[in-house]
Amino acid sequence: MTSGAAVRPSDSAVALRMTGVRKSFGAVRALDGVDLEVRVGEVHALVGENGAGKSTLMKVLSGAHAPDDGTMELFGRPFAPAGPLDARAAGVAMIYQELNLAPHLTVAENVLLGREERGPLGVIDRARGAARVEAALGALDHADLRADDRVRDLSPGARQMVEVARALAFDARVVVMDEPTSSLGKRDVERLFEAIRRLSERGVAVVYISHFLDEVSRVGDRYTVLRDGRSVATGDLADVGHDPLIEAMVGRTIDDVFPRVPRTPGDVVLRVEHLAGRELPVDASFELRRGEILGIAGLVGAGRTEMLRAIFGLDAARGGAVDGRERTGLLSENRKEEGLLLNLPIAVNVTLSKLDPFTTLGVVDARRQEAATASWIDRLGVRCVGPRQPVGALSGGNQQKVALARLLHHDVDVLLLDEPTRGVDVASKAEIYRRMGELAAAGKGIVFVSSYLPELLGVCDRVAVMHRGRLGAPRPVEEWSENALLEEATTGGT
Ligand SMILES: Nc1ncnc2c1ncn2[C@@H]1O[C@H](COP(=O)(O)OP(=O)(O)OP(=O)(O)O)[C@@H](O)[C@H]1O
Ligand SMILES: [Mg+2]
Repeated sequence: MTSGAAVRPSDSAVALRMTGVRKSFGAVRALDGVDLEVRVGEVHALVGENGAGKSTLMKVLSGAHAPDDGTMELFGRPFAPAGPLDARAAGVAMIYQELNLAPHLTVAENVLLGREERGPLGVIDRARGAARVEAALGALDHADLRADDRVRDLSPGARQMVEVARALAFDARVVVMDEPTSSLGKRDVERLFEAIRRLSERGVAVVYISHFLDEVSRVGDRYTVLRDGRSVATGDLADVGHDPLIEAMVGRTIDDVFPRVPRTPGDVVLRVEHLAGRELPVDASFELRRGEILGIAGLVGAGRTEMLRAIFGLDAARGGAVDGRERTGLLSENRKEEGLLLNLPIAVNVTLSKLDPFTTLGVVDARRQEAATASWIDRLGVRCVGPRQPVGALSGGNQQKVALARLLHHDVDVLLLDEPTRGVDVASKAEIYRRMGELAAAGKGIVFVSSYLPELLGVCDRVAVMHRGRLGAPRPVEEWSENALLEEATTGGT
């Protein structure tokens, strides 16, 4: 050993180091001593259950939350951003799932937003800005993304690319993606992965948060597992299988992700005949029986969400008939826009649509309302302080579970579920599948829209594919494979 300070040879390759980071919200200890080391040019997967602290950790990194304790280093220098702008100036870019784009502006304007190039006299230098945008778009090589397109006309995948372009245009050195693929179709996922590879080749460090472990092992180099606000495992993804990862996340193994509850189909409980919406769906027909789970596959934008909304009666139909509409309840895909009241307690959100079990002479018994909510919290494994906590303080996946609890509390005969496991962790997904099986066994009918093919194949009795607004004939799940579903989703089965 030589004398002097310890030399850490790997230091030159470390882009970001977070040490002993703590953050509490009131009594909730969201981060309880997290260590994270991300190297230059690597894709670092950050995984963990709903509420483990992943988004909070990244908000500390991006300057949105000040940590209570702990230190950060960026490229070997102490890093303590005063706020998001400060972090951005230091080269940290966040790409949120709910994108931060201005829809009425063009791609170029969004890429440059808030950071216009200024010449010597403080005049905005349009030529330089345009050159930056072109270089960034060129580096992404995304054929259908042009600088003067309006963002509102873009697909979800293309919008995400605008965010990536924004990071590239301003030389971000650490890019964080928090569940970037949860609203993307398969093709857009591939494009995003290609963009991520291009970022890594330029030496950008990418922190990638996802609940899809198959994606994580494809795109990631190393991983860190968070559990209950602590970093509990880290290493090379090449050296670890899914099972040990899941075990590190949840503290146990999950032996059966797709539990099968025995059930037999009963009477027809919902009949949809040649249903057509204003634009989508174009033509959808099926029958759903009690005790049956019918899966609906299709590309993003094929019209599956519109079909559920038209069945439920949220959007007016242009033609066709729905028999059984009054028995349906809808879990909408977009919990932010039309779902939850974020400022109100979980108990209010879960029970608002059906208060009569707790109401005597017009007065709601809050104790019984909270007790009923507590039982849903328990059954769905919602991670929270209690029924009185505002929904807005919950992690993304836990908000999704509250939306589901609300529908289950409402107790309808037919559940229309639009991407019910979006943002939900592996263990909770298994719990939701079990619940769906139990509901079907108890005589409910379920229409299950999902873009995650393994869960359609694992959970459903029959599956139909929607292609450009037309729903194909449902077929028994045994007759489908992932490839067959993809094929039909892409070509319409012709
Ligand atoms: N603004 C806030 N106020 C109160 N509690 C919060 C707030 N933000 C996060 N929390 C709590 O901190 C914990 C960690 O939440 P975080 O959003 O970081 O989880 P996550 O790992 O991103 O989960 P998910 O996979 O569901 O997105 C949760 O218990 C959450 O309820
Ligand atoms: Mg999160």
